[in-house]
Amino acid sequence: MEENILYYGDNIDVLNLHFKDESVDLVYLDPPFKSNQKYNVLFAEQDGSRSKAQIKAFEDTWRWDEAAVATYKNIVESGGNISKLMQALHGYIGGCDMLAYLSMMAPRLIELRRVLKATGSIFLHCDPTASHYLKLLLDGIFGPVNFKNEIIWHYRKWPSGKYAFQRNHDVILFYSKSDSKNRIFNQLFMDRAPSTLKRFGTAKIVSGYDEVGRRVPSRTEEEDSLGVRQDDVWDIGRVPPMKQLFPTQKPELLIEKILLASSKEGDTVLDPFCGCGTTIVTAQRLNRRWIGIDITHLSISLIRNRIRDVFGEIVPYKVIGEPVSMPDAEKLAKEDPYQFQCWALGLVGARPAEQKKGADRGIDGRLYFHDESKGVKTKQVIFSVKSGHTSVAHMRDLKGVLEREQAELGVLITLREPTQPMRVEAAEAGWYDSPWGTRHPRMQVLTIRELLDHKQINLPPSRVNVTFKKADKVKENNNNNLILPLEPSEN
Ligand SMILES: C[S@@+](CC[C@H](N)C(=O)[O-])C[C@H]1O[C@@H](n2cnc3c(N)ncnc32)[C@H](O)[C@@H]1O
Repeated sequence: MEENILYYGDNIDVLNLHFKDESVDLVYLDPPFKSNQKYNVLFAEQDGSRSKAQIKAFEDTWRWDEAAVATYKNIVESGGNISKLMQALHGYIGGCDMLAYLSMMAPRLIELRRVLKATGSIFLHCDPTASHYLKLLLDGIFGPVNFKNEIIWHYRKWPSGKYAFQRNHDVILFYSKSDSKNRIFNQLFMDRAPSTLKRFGTAKIVSGYDEVGRRVPSRTEEEDSLGVRQDDVWDIGRVPPMKQLFPTQKPELLIEKILLASSKEGDTVLDPFCGCGTTIVTAQRLNRRWIGIDITHLSISLIRNRIRDVFGEIVPYKVIGEPVSMPDAEKLAKEDPYQFQCWALGLVGARPAEQKKGADRGIDGRLYFHDESKGVKTKQVIFSVKSGHTSVAHMRDLKGVLEREQAELGVLITLREPTQPMRVEAAEAGWYDSPWGTRHPRMQVLTIRELLDHKQINLPPSRVNVTFKKADKVKENNNNNLILPLEPSEN
């Protein structure tokens, strides 16, 4: 099987640059919906400003501005079906947010068709405010004959709005690249309706007609039935807010159905708007090869963590498009400090802290660990990330947060070299003694240069992988110290 890959970048560029024709078996895409207001919460930064990359990914998608007009003109000038369709839509809805969105989607869908194998399929996840326009686009690009289903994903949520029925579904448009019988489609089955189950049990039912064409009563056979053929209305619960890594996270069960139906083990699955990586972890679990693309470092970091949390360190994959040198890191820090922060936290496996105002004051990221041999006591590392000037005041602030949060360890990640007073301040914070007898500096400073050289935080070993002799590990950890704390006097 070829490598799994996570790309950071705009999917149109990544597809153009890195993808050969007919190289993917299945595409699932879930581009940002405008109707999902909650999505915007993701972009809010602690100081009330918002990440430039996130704004670009969302607002530009939906704004009829110069860039959208240029994209629209490009599509129209390239001629063909889509050109005619876009002109017709322009005539009907005019230059507006929806046309900006469709102008963004059209070239991406064309590229996605190019990279799909002849036996492959595409599933476009959208909401009812855009699905009818997107269906026109897909008809134009894939051909109406390749339209397979409009899947309704039905869920329940808190009531909102009045004077209309509660909106409780998303739409997933399923098209194949060709109408060939060789295209991959594995029949899925659902449970029988309770009334059928009561009458016939699980046995195979045979129905028929007599010689004059009248329906004869159904009878059962000895063999068990496989179930009812899966239909196009799927009732699957949403990911509860408490469990979400990401405001627009989709349930794995939903993606699993798509993957089981339209791919087989070893096939390549692509998600060009991969968010927090639901397609990726589902593909990994089902033994598919996966490729994800996202325009934010936040997503790439979340996915790294999610893969590690679900599968441990065993999943091989590479990340393309992230900073790999100091000039890259400096460029990112300058362009978008929030994305820089997400990327830096991703390098140490930490999660960005809650972005809601007030909560997590002074904390940029967190990492939880368990090092007790019994019980489930959760301990934590608090992170602060500085892309600009750093001073001993930052170290003191972090120390204050560490005490407030009663966290075990604090780590300051800096783009610039730490000053001597910062090192002294860190050293004076002493040690964290793990139940295994290993010692770890309570406050640590890691520079981006060190992280790029694959240096890591000095963390206690987790209880599951401790197989060493205490004394050896104490020695090893002390050698690895990034900043050696002053030995407490009683030691
Ligand atoms: C609705 S979310 C996807 C959620 C995903 N299905 C999940 O379950 O986690 C859309 C994602 O598309 C990304 N995105 C938006 N525009 C993009 C672009 N042009 N290229 C790549 N990713 C993009 C956003 O950053 C966001 O993470």
